[in-house]
Amino acid sequence: MNTLKLALLGFGNAGQAFAQMLLDKQEEVEQTYNHKILVTAISTRSKGTLVNPKGIDLERALKDVREMNHFSKVTPGYCSLSNFEVIESADYDAIMELTPLNIETGQPAIDHIRGAFSRGKHAITANKGPIAWAFEELKSMAEEKGVEFFYETTVMDGTPIFNLVEDTLKFCQIEEVSGILNSTTNFILEEMAKKRPYDEIMEEGRARGFVEADPAMDIEGYDAAAKTTALLNVLMRANITPDQVDREGIEHITEKDIEEAEKEGRVIKLLCRGYRENNQVKAVVKPTALPRENMLASVDSTTSIVSITTDLMGKVSVIEHAPEIEQTAYGIFSDMVRLLDRTRK
Ligand SMILES: NC(=O)c1ccc[n+]([C@@H]2O[C@H](COP(=O)([O-])OP(=O)(O)OC[C@H]3O[C@@H](n4cnc5c(N)ncnc54)[C@H](OP(=O)(O)O)[C@@H]3O)[C@@H](O)[C@H]2O)c1
Repeated sequence: MNTLKLALLGFGNAGQAFAQMLLDKQEEVEQTYNHKILVTAISTRSKGTLVNPKGIDLERALKDVREMNHFSKVTPGYCSLSNFEVIESADYDAIMELTPLNIETGQPAIDHIRGAFSRGKHAITANKGPIAWAFEELKSMAEEKGVEFFYETTVMDGTPIFNLVEDTLKFCQIEEVSGILNSTTNFILEEMAKKRPYDEIMEEGRARGFVEADPAMDIEGYDAAAKTTALLNVLMRANITPDQVDREGIEHITEKDIEEAEKEGRVIKLLCRGYRENNQVKAVVKPTALPRENMLASVDSTTSIVSITTDLMGKVSVIEHAPEIEQTAYGIFSDMVRLLDRTRK
């Protein structure tokens, strides 16, 4: 039996949910692929690091983190190695980049992936920073080194957007992409339409986990711009960075704007768009009054949608309904399975 060894950089919400999904499906996957799957390293900022070439006991790692919020110091392989030390020295076939997004530069996740590639290792990222800031460079580096680079989770979690286009819409050129990708602004606009006071909306949003303590990144459209960039870099090979997106947030939208749009049968949404113009891909994130019958207008709260216009297959739309952390875990898990598909002998 062959072995696939994984190094997890980060063990927060996404890392833990992936570990649980792997535990639940491990036997089935191992039998299907005749491959043993071992997690040989997990690094965190404050919970400690585990490195064990024979495989970490994931059940125990999860239990410790859930009960104590850190790994137990008596776990075999407990150490204080940093992400970079793990990347450079641990025994693994693929890293999983599960550290927080740096929306301004994509770092240090870009360097994590560069480090793995330079050792001839594969990379799976849930972190969209590297896709938004350095996709072409990392893609070429992976090709040069003959390794795989997967990133399905970076936009709409495990919903197959990138896999759909790469694996099933073969030879289609993507002419345009549009979508509703930011749940915070979606939620706020929807509640404003119900004439609820802004403070009350924000309070409920925070309580339900839609709104960050500092919501500026969402409200001013930076998060949507990073997602749009990642989408367009992969689907349209746009080779752009988030600062090149023509971006406008919802901070200036008033109840009156929403009311006037309603009178015309329209709904204001933070629309993300990419299209070709003069051999370049233009990216726009802007509050837009969409006709109520437009499918994008009906997407609410944490539901997201991407519509892809192609030359051969017309327009295809994919909706992710109110995702939870399991959908994130599935994105990482499905990339791992894809890696098994590509690398099995
Ligand atoms: N959660 C989602 O729904 C979701 C969906 C799609 C994509 N993603 C992406 O997936 C990634 C992970 O998300 P998450 O929700 O799991 O984040 P999270 O809960 O904040 O976990 C991040 C993990 O990275 C570790 N970390 C942070 N800085 C580090 C450093 N300098 N060195 C070593 N480890 C470090 C943290 O360590 P500590 O444990 O010590 O804090 C933690 O384990 C993000 O890029 C996110 O955008 C998340």
